[in-house]
This record gives sequence, C-alpha cells and structure tokens, in this order.
Amino acid sequence: MKMKLLATLMAAVICGAMIAACSPPKAEMVKGAKIPDGTVDPAVWGKAYPEEYETWKNTADPTPVGKSKYKKGNDGGETFDKLSEYPFNALLFNGWGFGIEYNEPRGHVHMLKDQLDVDSSRVKAGGSCLTCKTPYAPALAEKYGVDYFSKPYKEVLNLIPKEHQELGVSCIDCHNNRDMTLRISRGFTLGKALKKLGVDQTKMTNQDMRTLVCAQCHVSYVVQKNAEMKSQDVFFPWDESKWGRITIENIIKKIRSDKSYGEWTQSVTGFKLAFIRHPEFEMFSNNSVHWMAGVSCADCHMPYIKVGSRKISDHRIMSPLKNDFKACQQCHAESPEWLKNQVIAIQDRAASQFIRSGYALATVAKLFELTHKEQAAGKQIDKELYDKAKDHYEEGFYRNLFFGAENSLGFHNPTEAMRILGDASMHAAKAEGLLRQALAKAGVNVPVKIDLELSKYTNNRGAKKLMFNPKQELKDPF
Ligand code: HEC
Ligand code: HEC
Ligand code: HEC
Ligand code: HEC
Repeated sequence: MKMKLLATLMAAVICGAMIAACSPPKAEMVKGAKIPDGTVDPAVWGKAYPEEYETWKNTADPTPVGKSKYKKGNDGGETFDKLSEYPFNALLFNGWGFGIEYNEPRGHVHMLKDQLDVDSSRVKAGGSCLTCKTPYAPALAEKYGVDYFSKPYKEVLNLIPKEHQELGVSCIDCHNNRDMTLRISRGFTLGKALKKLGVDQTKMTNQDMRTLVCAQCHVSYVVQKNAEMKSQDVFFPWDESKWGRITIENIIKKIRSDKSYGEWTQSVTGFKLAFIRHPEFEMFSNNSVHWMAGVSCADCHMPYIKVGSRKISDHRIMSPLKNDFKACQQCHAESPEWLKNQVIAIQDRAASQFIRSGYALATVAKLFELTHKEQAAGKQIDKELYDKAKDHYEEGFYRNLFFGAENSLGFHNPTEAMRILGDASMHAAKAEGLLRQALAKAGVNVPVKIDLELSKYTNNRGAKKLMFNPKQELKDPF
C-alpha cells in the first residue's frame, strides 16, 4: 500500500497493541485566553478558540446527500429510519421503543434535541439516558448518585440549566479548560470500564486519548436495574476483556449472565433480552487493521483543515465519505475514488451478511411464536431441543444486533464484522433446525417458508413513521 507517511508505517510496527504517535503532524495551538474552571457554555470556550467553535457548530448543518452509500445524509429534514432500511429489525425489536423508532445518527449538535424528539418509549430508562447526551451528566451523576439514573427522564432534564437543555456534547466533555489537553470527563462510566480492562488511565498517550474521548459515548452499555426495574447504574460489559480485545463473546457472556440486565421483552418470542448500542470503540479496537496501525477515531473523523491562517482539527465530526476522504488522504496516497471503492466493497459484503442473518433470525423468532402457540394448545415440546434452540437464537440475535448497532457497516473492522455475522447466521441456522425438529417430534406440520408478516411490524408504528414498502421484502434472501 502506498503511504504518504513512511513514518506511519514504521510507527505501526513499533506501537504494537497500544496506540502510539501514528498520526499526521499536529494542528497548531494558539496560546490561550483563560477559560474559567467548570465552564460548560461552548460560546465562552469559543471566544478563545473561534475556529474550533465554528466547526463544532457546523455539526448542526445537514450532511451532503449522495456521497455515502449507507449513511445517506439528510438534506435538512428527514432523518433516516433504520427500521425501514432493515425491516427484519422492526420484527425483532417489536415490543419496545427501538421497534417503534430507531434512526440513523445525526450531527453532534443535535444529540439532545433528537432524544427529546424521539418516541417517548425510548427514554423509559430515565436519567441514565442523558449520560451520553449532556455535558452535565458527570456533575449530575456525582451530585445525585442513584437518583440521577433512576428518576424519570424529564425530571432529570429539568435539573439542567434551562438554556442548556438542548446542548449536546461540548468542549468540556473532551478538553481540560486550562491547557486544552484531552480528558475523560466520564470517569463514572468509561473510567470504571478501563479499570476492568486493566488499563491505567494516567498512562494513556495523546494518541490513545484521540480515541478515548469518543469512547465515552460510542460504546455499548448496560442499564443496571433493581428488582422494581428502576435504573441504578450504567456500565460497560467489558468484563474478562482486554485492551485491544473486547470481544462479542465476552460482551454476550456478561449481558446474559444476569436476568436483571434484560431491559425489554421481545414480543414475537416473549423472551426477556438485553440490548446493545453503538459499539464503535469495541468493534474498532478489536485488532482491526487501523487500530493495529495506531490510527485513532479523530484521525478519520477530525481531519486537519486550514481555517484562515490556522491549521486546526475539524470539529465538524461526520462520515469521512461526506468529507471527500480528506481524512484518509492524510495517510493514503490513493485517490478518493479508490478509497471509496474500498469502503463500499467492505460495506456491501457486510450488509449482505447482515441482511441474511437478520432474516434468518426473524424466521427463528416466528418459529418460536408458532412453538409457543402449539404449546398453549397442549402440544408437548421437547425441552432439551427447545432450550438449545433458544440458546442459539439468543447468541445469534446479540451478534446481529451488535453489528447493526455499530455505525460503520463493517468498515471499522471488516474481518471481525464478517466473523461476527457468520457466527450469527450459524447460530440462527442451528436454532431453526432444532426448533423444526422439536415441532416435528410434537407432530406439528411446519411450512417450508415461514411467513414473517413483516408489514405487521413495520407499519404499526404511529402516524409519523415511514410505511413499509412491499418491494423491500425482495431483500429476503430465503
Ligand atoms: C457525549 C457523547 C459523545 C461523544 C463524547 C462523542 N459522540 Fe459522536 N455522537 C454521539 C451521539 C449521541 C450521536 C448521535 C446524534 C444524533 O443522532 O442526534 C453521535 C454522532 C456521531 C457521528 C455521526 C454524525 C453524522 O453526521 O451523522 C459521528 C461520525 C460521531 N458521532 C463520531 C464521534 C467521534 C469521532 C468522537 C470523538 C472525537 C465522538 N463522536 C464523540 C455522542 C457522542
Ligand atoms: C480508518 C478510519 C476510521 C477510523 C479510525 C474510525 N472511523 Fe468511524 N467511520 C469511518 C468510515 C469510512 C465510516 C463509514 C461512513 C459512511 O459509510 O458514510 C465510519 C462511520 C462512523 C460512524 C457513523 C457515521 C454516520 O454518518 O452515521 C460513527 C458514529 C463513527 N464512525 C465513529 C467512530 C469512532 C467512535 C471511532 C473510534 C472508536 C471511529 N469511528 C474510528 C472511518 C473511520
Ligand atoms: C468529542 C470530543 C471533542 C469536543 C466536544 C471538542 N473537541 Fe476540541 N479536540 C478534540 C480532539 C480529539 C482534538 C485533537 C487533540 C490532539 O490531537 O491533541 C481537539 C483539538 C482541539 C484544539 C487544539 C487545536 C486543534 O484544533 O487541534 C482546540 C483549541 C480545541 N479542540 C477546541 C475545542 C473547542 C473550543 C470545543 C467546543 C466548542 C471543542 N474543542 C470540542 C476533541 C473534541
Ligand atoms: C493515520 C493514518 C491513516 C488514516 C487517517 C487512514 N488510514 Fe487506512 N490505513 C493506514 C495504515 C497504516 C494501514 C495498513 C497498511 C497496510 O498494512 O498495508 C491502512 C489500511 C487501509 C486499508 C486496507 C486494510 C483493510 O482494512 O483491508 C484500507 C481499505 C484503508 N486503510 C482505507 C482507509 C480509509 C477509507 C480511510 C479514511 C476513512 C483511511 N484508511 C484512513 C493508515 C491510515
């Protein structure tokens, strides 16, 4: 591979598991105006660093349409709906908020506002939902403890000063006010999780921090509930994992280890399940080519740009495709067309596996529905076969969920994505075989092709939701 920076490759060899200084030359710091301790208001920080502030504000702008195949962008209004893109998920998520409304992400400035707009069933977990949305989260968690996590969403929202009730990720979330170095503001979540990995936070390099500031939010978490199903804490299921190797196997083991991690009941199967959200850091850091080469999230999502006479890190964080691969070209000498082909080829392969395993799992879910109906009508179902089928189904479901919740469609770690999806399909096939065997043993005649009744799940989501387009059913590979 042609590299602009030989040094990058050399550093890649040297840095091994830990990220080292593999990034392109740094932006220029300006010597600084004072920002008083505890200042949340980005406008105050912006007086000292107007260029970063302006680009940060630009995350409010609509992103360009037509540059990214899977992250379509929005031209001002419409937010893309993941359930219409992947109708099998409308079936699998039916039973709670994610089955009603599940959108593609938007720019950072929108995050809290988008949470206020989303279907209210999505914020039932209470204040814990604000952990990744407001710069006030660390202070609230410290001040109110368990109450912060458990109190109703609106009540906790009202503890935030009025003028900042729509303010999303801000300078204080990622920076120390005195010297603008990077900081982890969410010690109560990420800090604790790093300990689980055996990592000493104080020994992190600046290059590590260029990933870890993002890992405060772009990670999966578990909302821990008490017996009354009230939220008590938010933690990352990184038990038994290592730095650079947080595996889906360990995550699943943890979230299946305790019934109280179950957050919702899947209506088609009646199973109580946990959930996985945006595991960008876990996927990326698990031995991916770029992680091993010492590349950070900021290298690809915050390229250096020239504003006036200053060179700065672009704080308009978004898809590198929508930014014409500016970030990639800091290291890659290839043309944007070549880079685009690589990205799309990776994403196409992964998407096809994702859709395949998704429909296979939806089929198994419908078979469980049938099994439960037959049981209710008095049929004896072999317990061993049933339990094994359920085990495979859940293993497959969480793998498919992990991939779908990760926002890069496989790009962050192509080989790992394909491994996870392959296993998801394998588990789904095993579950289907076992259930069919159990049903046959009970004398039930099961059709070869299971009707998924998709429109039942896609269309009953309230007036503002997109209607299911029957043409999409053609995506069903079976
Ligand atoms: C405080 C939590 C938080 C932190 C820290 C954070 N993000 Fe995000 N990020 C979010 C949320 C929430 C969204 C979705 C916002 C929405 O849809 O309204 C998002 C969206 C995004 C998007 C999609 C933007 C688009 O145009 O669709 C990208 C890319 C992204 N983040 C990358 C990063 C990177 C890289 C970092 C670190 C430099 C980072 N984020 C740090 C919470 C965070
Ligand atoms: C080697 C470059 C690279 C690195 C490193 C990288 N990303 Fe990405 N990221 C991409 C590409 C390419 C996409 C796909 C964008 C698309 O399809 O439009 C993407 C997509 C995303 C998205 C979804 C964007 C959208 O518009 O919906 C988020 C969020 C994101 N990355 C966050 C992160 C975080 C957090 C990290 C670090 C843990 C990270 N990325 C590391 C290149 C990178
Ligand atoms: C999601 C995390 C995040 C947020 C929010 C954020 N920054 Fe940054 N910022 C970074 C990263 C990462 C760098 C690169 C730092 C490095 O490499 O040392 C950076 C660099 C900087 C620098 C150093 C010069 C440069 O451009 O590289 C300044 C100044 C700065 N940010 C100001 C701000 C201001 C002002 C805000 C709020 C309006 C802000 N940042 C919000 C992550 C963030
Ligand atoms: C900070 C430097 C850096 C940045 C930024 C970067 N890369 Fe890379 N990339 C590398 C290195 C180093 C390798 C490994 C080269 C090798 O082993 O041949 C690599 C490998 C690759 C590969 C081949 C490996 C694979 O996963 O199959 C592709 C494709 C690629 N990069 C695309 C991109 C794209 C697209 C972007 C922007 C979104 C990007 N890179 C951003 C340094 C970078």
